[in-house]
Amino acid sequence: MVDWGRGSYERTAAQIVPVASLVLDAAEPVDGLRLLDLACGTGNAALEAARRGARVIGLDAAPRLLDVAADLADSHGLTANWIRGDVHELPFAANSFEVVTSVFGLIFAEHPDRAAAEAARVLAPAGRLAFSAWLDQGPMTGIEAIFESYAGHAADRTDGTGSVADEPQRLDWGDRHRLRELFSDYGISIRCERHDLSFTAESPEAQNEAWFEHHPLWLDAAERLDEPDRERLREQCLAELHRVNEDRSGFRITLPYLIALGSPV
Ligand SMILES: C[S@@+](CC[C@H](N)C(=O)[O-])C[C@H]1O[C@@H](n2cnc3c(N)ncnc32)[C@H](O)[C@@H]1O
Repeated sequence: MVDWGRGSYERTAAQIVPVASLVLDAAEPVDGLRLLDLACGTGNAALEAARRGARVIGLDAAPRLLDVAADLADSHGLTANWIRGDVHELPFAANSFEVVTSVFGLIFAEHPDRAAAEAARVLAPAGRLAFSAWLDQGPMTGIEAIFESYAGHAADRTDGTGSVADEPQRLDWGDRHRLRELFSDYGISIRCERHDLSFTAESPEAQNEAWFEHHPLWLDAAERLDEPDRERLREQCLAELHRVNEDRSGFRITLPYLIALGSPV
């Protein structure tokens, strides 16, 4: 599993703040309700929920990001509790929350069925689940394909003792039909709305540099490669960013995503 505490994920988190607002809008009303933000990172949705009067717990696997979230809460005079935990095994009793949110967090669960089961379990009978997920289309698909083409180059870090049941499973979280199937197994009906989010930078070079220097996913991918492959990966990503750039005087890409709203049936 990627360590999201390395690098400076907070730089990217700041760029997706608008999504947290929309996820909270979808989950409204939240004032006075118990709200759990899954894979909260630096607390984008958790902080917005606290601002709107919810009684918030933010849960994430990365302690450093939880520290950043706690500092942000303090500096904004907001109250929330921060818990280190795993979305596959939530440390809460059934029906503990009226609202469960996640901003591009649940989508990183290595076992989507377990994570969905847990989200459904802790959700109260009349509760609401709201989360965002990238669509598997748009300008980042080329970068993902490049990353995947290097997967076979990486040194094998497994110790050979893991069971098949523990191997990460893939789910296209941007596929609304798959989401409906997944959550219907746990008594949650899902409806989805589509949105777009733009990322901007001074230039494709500046964006490429920022991701390779600061983003946990880029740091993790590069670290697995030897120096020549790492350099090739960097160059290919830069060429792809030039190809998909929507702003010839700078850099902009527009990423489609969906917000899924679920409620127990
Ligand atoms: C793309 S970040 C999203 C963070 C945050 N929701 C935001 O709006 O910026 C993905 C987050 O998922 C967390 N994460 C990944 N797998 C997890 C797991 N199994 N349990 C808990 N958190 C997890 C990472 O630590 C990271 O903070």
